[in-house]
Amino acid sequence: MRIDIITVVPEILKSPFEASILKRAIEKGLVEVHIHNLRDYAQGNYKQVDDYQFGGGAGMVLMIEPIDKCIQELKSQRAYDEVIYLTPDGQTLDQKMANSLSLLGNMIILCGHYKGVDQRVRDTLITREISIGDYVLSGGELGAAVLCDAIIRLLPGVLNDETSALTDSFQDNLLAPPVYTRPREYKGLEVPEILTSGNTKAIEAWREEQAQLRTLKLRPDLLK
Ligand code: ADE
Repeated sequence: MRIDIITVVPEILKSPFEASILKRAIEKGLVEVHIHNLRDYAQGNYKQVDDYQFGGGAGMVLMIEPIDKCIQELKSQRAYDEVIYLTPDGQTLDQKMANSLSLLGNMIILCGHYKGVDQRVRDTLITREISIGDYVLSGGELGAAVLCDAIIRLLPGVLNDETSALTDSFQDNLLAPPVYTRPREYKGLEVPEILTSGNTKAIEAWREEQAQLRTLKLRPDLLK
C-alpha cells in the first residue's frame, strides 16, 4: 500500500509515522507514506495556496491550482484507487470503512484547511470524502493521521499477533471484552478467576459474554 498525503502543515503529520506500530509497518515495507507540502506546488514569491472566497465571507479557501498540480503529478507516476478529502461534511469513518480501505493499493489523502477547498476540487479531483467525527478540527491533518492509523494497523503483518485486529472492538459490531495483566491481585482488586483457570473454551465463552454485556451497556446502538 502507498499513501500520499497532501497538506499545508506537514509538521503535524510527521510524528504519527515516526513511532510505534506505524513506524514499524513502514520499516517492514508494508506501507509507504509520502507527505507533500502543498506550498511546493504554489506559484510566485509568496507561494500562495489560499485566497479569499468569492462572494465574501470569513475565512480563506485552498485554491484549486496547486492541488491540481500536485495530484496530476502523483497520478502521472502511478494509478490511484481513491483520492480522499478529509472534511467534517464527509462520510463518517467507522471500522467497516477502515476495513475496506485497507484492501486498496494506492491512495491520495488531501487535508483541508481554513474554510476548506475550492468546490471545483471536490467536484473533479476527489473520489471520496471522509470525516472522522461530528466535530470541527482546524485542519484535516489529524483526521488523516487517524484514518492512516486505522487502515495501516489492519494490513497483514503489521500487528505481531495477526488475530489481534480481528478481536478489536467493532470488528463484529461488539466492543472488546475487559483485559487484565499481572499482578493477579492489586490492593485487593482481583482478576476474574476464569482467566487464570487455563480452560481456554470457558475463557472464550466468558469473553464473548463480556463483549455482549459491555456493548449492551455502553453502546446498545451497535447491536441494532
Ligand atoms: N477537518 C476538519 N474537521 C474534520 C473532521 N471532523 N474530520 C475530517 N477532517 C476534518
